[in-house]
Amino acid sequence: MKIKNICCIGAGYVGGPTMTMIAAKCPDIKVNVVDINKSRIAAWNDRDVNNIPIYEPGLSDLVAQTRDHNLFFSTDVDAAIAAADMIFISVNTPTKTYGVGKGMAADLKYIELCARQIAAVATTDKIIVEKSTLPVRTAEALRSILDNTGNGVHFDILSNPEFLAEGTAVSDLLHPDRVLIGGEDTERGKKAQKALVDIYANWVPKEQILTTNVWSSELSKLTANAFLAQRVSSINALSELCEVTEADVNEVARAIGTDSRIGPKFLKASVGFGGSCFQKDILNLVYIAQTYGLQEVADYWEQVIIMNDHQKRRFAKKIVKTLFNTVSGKKIALLGWAFKKDTNDTRESAAIYVADYLLNEQAEITVYDPKVTAQQIYNDLDYLGTRSSEENRRLLKVVDTPLQAVEDAHATAILTEWNEFMNYDWKEVYDLMLKPAFLFDGRMILNQQDVEKIGFEVYTIGKG
Ligand code: UDX
Ligand code: ADP
Repeated sequence: MKIKNICCIGAGYVGGPTMTMIAAKCPDIKVNVVDINKSRIAAWNDRDVNNIPIYEPGLSDLVAQTRDHNLFFSTDVDAAIAAADMIFISVNTPTKTYGVGKGMAADLKYIELCARQIAAVATTDKIIVEKSTLPVRTAEALRSILDNTGNGVHFDILSNPEFLAEGTAVSDLLHPDRVLIGGEDTERGKKAQKALVDIYANWVPKEQILTTNVWSSELSKLTANAFLAQRVSSINALSELCEVTEADVNEVARAIGTDSRIGPKFLKASVGFGGSCFQKDILNLVYIAQTYGLQEVADYWEQVIIMNDHQKRRFAKKIVKTLFNTVSGKKIALLGWAFKKDTNDTRESAAIYVADYLLNEQAEITVYDPKVTAQQIYNDLDYLGTRSSEENRRLLKVVDTPLQAVEDAHATAILTEWNEFMNYDWKEVYDLMLKPAFLFDGRMILNQQDVEKIGFEVYTIGKG
């Protein structure tokens, strides 16, 4: 079976870049990306490709190359479903904020709505691909909805979780470590699986395309994220121990990372991991384990989140303690709001929680981030609901340049590892700040001795 027409429901951080890559690598396939969010689709269609809604290095060039050739963005979900042989579901699956499983389980309402819409609209057989990260056995629910509400057409269900990381989406999609495709163990299921393998085989070596059953594929995505987050929490736990023992967490990371069984990646201590996936997926894993009565398994993974929350709070507390136990009325500059460099995504960013803590202590905050808008920053704070939106706007100012942020500040805290922060003239920053000038490096991007020589009082995560 050769796929000629793809529909992707959800034009977000996963659907947008992934479909752009498929369109670029498969010029014979027409790819329709649809979303109910009109302004998001309008941004994807903006004449100036630099205005697409997601900032990812290299993405706008790829969009320019494919858009309106074989890649289309639209809000007409029904038409795209009707025309497709294969439908990717790339909608969001946030943590539930209500009812059973509140704060832990994945909220599948958007997935269910998609399934019902597909079932209602489809008049020909379709292959449905779960692209969003989902709890294990979601395909069962999908199958039930599709089969019970459909028009008698046949649906094959595949799980094809996306492993790309934000900020490196284009290169991750171009050169994935592996592509995972879970399928049903029937003759039809195998054919559907092969149809998707053939799409990726246009640019991914066949031996890197792994096929498994649907349940293994669904669970592997949660497991991969849990293992990655666990590494960050592990090194962060040791960063606290390093600070009291005068060991240097960077040196420890290098020493253990050269053991080929451990490996060097994902061992950078930080103010805490953020992003849309890690916390959500671990909470989901914890919830699933609890649902099956596996309390020890649940407790084991929950500790990764507990450690991460501790790390964010610990960093904020350190600022208050160092500034003579009070930051009330003091100006504190935050450099970076995104959850990591090279993205404008702020979901679960450590910066939000550090800012919230400091605002509770009545600090006056200025924020500079090269890619995040002021509106996003205020939305993030308002969403927490700790204080009124007027108060957030009064106490926290978003500025356009780093120098505006640090002028007359008592302290500067680096919360995102943007390259430009490394290249600043830190002497100029020092001169603009009030003295003593405190510098809190939550990302270990500066050489502590160099900045101390300038005159800063420096705190670096993981250094005594
Ligand atoms: C992650 C997974 O890497 C990806 O495979 C999955 O598809 C989605 O979730 P992402 O959230 O985009 O990707 O970013 P990632 O690079 O994994 O970083 C997550 C967080 O961990 C960031 O806040 C980052 O700063 C932090 N981190 C990462 C560290 O603090 N230290 C590290 O060594 C690595
Ligand atoms: P992710 O990081 O998983 O890609 P995003 O929140 O960036 O998550 O993107 C998910 C997108 O899915 C959003 O733009 C949202 O509007 C869209 N979406 C959610 N439900 C539906 C639906 N039923 N039909 C079409 N689009 C949807």
